[in-house]
Parts: sequence; C-alpha cells; structure tokens
Amino acid sequence: MPALSVQNLRKLYGNQVAVDDVSLNVEVGQIYGLLGPNGAGKTTTLRCIATLTVPDAGAIAVCGATEARTIRQNLGYIAQEVSLDKVLTGRELLELQAALYHMPAKTIKPRINEVLELLQLNEYADKLTGTYSGGLKKRLDLAAGLLHQPKVLILDEPTVGLDIQTRLTIWNFLRQLKSQGITVLITSHYLEEIDALAERVAIIDRGKVIAEGTPSDLKAQLGGDRLTIKIKEFAEYSEAEQALNQLKNLAFVTSGLINNAQGNAINLVISPDPAAVGEIQSSLNAANIPIFSLSQSKPSLDDVFLSATGQTIQDVEIALSEIAPTKKRR
Ligand SMILES: Nc1ncnc2c1ncn2[C@@H]1O[C@H](COP(=O)(O)OP(=O)(O)OP(=O)(O)O)[C@@H](O)[C@H]1O
Ligand SMILES: [Mg+2]
Repeated sequence: MPALSVQNLRKLYGNQVAVDDVSLNVEVGQIYGLLGPNGAGKTTTLRCIATLTVPDAGAIAVCGATEARTIRQNLGYIAQEVSLDKVLTGRELLELQAALYHMPAKTIKPRINEVLELLQLNEYADKLTGTYSGGLKKRLDLAAGLLHQPKVLILDEPTVGLDIQTRLTIWNFLRQLKSQGITVLITSHYLEEIDALAERVAIIDRGKVIAEGTPSDLKAQLGGDRLTIKIKEFAEYSEAEQALNQLKNLAFVTSGLINNAQGNAINLVISPDPAAVGEIQSSLNAANIPIFSLSQSKPSLDDVFLSATGQTIQDVEIALSEIAPTKKRR
C-alpha cells in the first residue's frame, strides 16, 4: 500500500481549472517532489491532500485512509506561507497545536520537548515568535507539523526565501525523517532542490502531470546534452528557424526547438560526443550564420519541463510576472 495515493484529482475555482487531472503514488519512506512553475497547481494539490480544500473529483488516500479525520491524523502539513501568531512563544504555539490535534494530555509536554530538541529550538522556545528569523519560523513550523507524529509529511515550498545554509539544514532534516521511515512530499519550483532531495518527481504544469519518474531517468530520457545557441541577442524567428533547419540535418543533433522567451535562442539536444559542438559551429560558419553565444550543459529537470512544454520553468515565471502580479496563466 502506498503512503499516499492521489487518483485523477480535479479542482476548479469558479470556472478556472486549478488542478486538472493529477495522479500520484508515493511509497512509504520516499521523498517525492512536485515540481512546477507558479500557478501550476502545487499548493491546490497539497491542500486537497490535507483535506483543507474539497476536490471536485478524484480520490485521495493517506496510508490507506480516505476519511478526512483519519487522513489528518496520518498527515503533517507545512503550508507555503508561515503565519505564526506573533504574541505566542514557540512553546505556546506548539501547545495550541497539540490541543488542535487532541493529543493525550500526558504526552504533550514530553513530545513538545522532543520536537524542540529535534529542530534545535530549545533556546528559542520561550521567546515570542514575532522575534524569530525566517529560518527559525520555518523550523517551528516543521516542529508543529511533526508534533502529532504523522507518518506522512507534506511541505509546500519549505525553503522559499531562506538563505542557503538554512536550506541545506532543512534538506538534511528531511533526509533524516526519511531514514526514520517518514514519507515526505515536497513542492518546489527550485529545480536543484527537487533534484537533490527527491527520489521521484512529478512535474506539473497547468494542473496536469507532464512527466513523472526518478530525476535521473527523466533526464536520461532526454538522450544527450543540451546546447543553447543564440545567433543574435534577439533573433527574428525566421532567422532562428533557418539556422535550426541547417543544424537538424547533422548526425549529432537529436532534436531542437526555438525558444521565443530567450530571444529566439535555439535549444538543441545533442549526443554527448566531444566532436559535436565543433561540427555544429562549422556547420553554422559554412552557412554564414553568426553565433552570438553558445552554451553546453548536462540535462536538468528544467530541460525535462522544456521538452514537454516548449518553455523553461523560469521563462514561464518571468512571463507570468510580466502579465500580472496575480499569477494567472490559463
Ligand atoms: N483560493 C483560490 N481562488 C481562486 N483561484 C485560486 C485559488 N487558489 C489558487 N487559485 C488559482 O489556481 C491556480 C493554481 O494555484 P496554486 O496556488 O495551486 O499554484 P502553485 O503551483 O502552488 O503556484 P505557486 O508556485 O505560485 O505557489 C492558479 O491559477 C491560482 O491563481
Ligand atoms: Mg503554491
């Protein structure tokens, strides 16, 4: 039995589809990543799993439980936005959380001490949360989510806005939970975060899963290195197309597309052959096509997103921030 199963989840806000058709299976003790750009439907999916939002269709089971009350017992949910009550101390906030979960009175004090210890919050426990730094707030948030000893922990962008040191601390903490058999579902739009942490990943875009698997399999499926060529800083589409047509004929080039959001740059997948880049350059030279810039890299999860959607996650987010501050893209 999977720790978490989501089947054909669908959620609308008015007539806007937030989650279209999402299915996920997370095995016990796995760290599973949900990756996607702003507005992809990550938070909505997590809120449905946490029984905070009622889906329009689909089925959810957490450790086999399908009833909201039991799901909540099995689940810890760490929300995207931390909104701690500033007039409480860390310890008081945990006491409140314990009451919300109807924890047996006798167990509360020792368990609070345990999670404070676990997240190294002892020296801050009796200070007002209003005085906490971002990293401390997140740690307290994690302590609260873990207080009732859930089997599955779901975290919505747990490291957003945190410095790199605190991010690494949280990554290590999640790995530690995994080693204790706790299942972790984490959302992020940081590719490196998912790549470093998750054993399996579902990439979602506009409410749909567009790729699923282990990060290394997904990258391997792209079959080669990435080469981004700009013939000019901002090329006309027709110019880029002409260059792409020239390059597509080369044996080293597996596939290619033109990335409008990057000034009509040409994104190629090439075989990882040392001669490939030289051949590509000569071919463009021979056709009198200029090269403004050229960069080669190993495929990343962003390339998986790119090959499925024709855009990078960053492009989507830049475009969204230009359209409107209220991230809408449907
Ligand atoms: N309460 C709501 N009412 C109306 N629309 C909503 C509501 N919550 C989310 N949406 C819309 O549903 C879509 C999915 O939003 P969601 O917050 O799930 O995305 P996300 O992947 O978590 O994005 P982000 O990376 O920005 O957190 C978006 O288009 C968003 O505007
Ligand atoms: Mg979100």
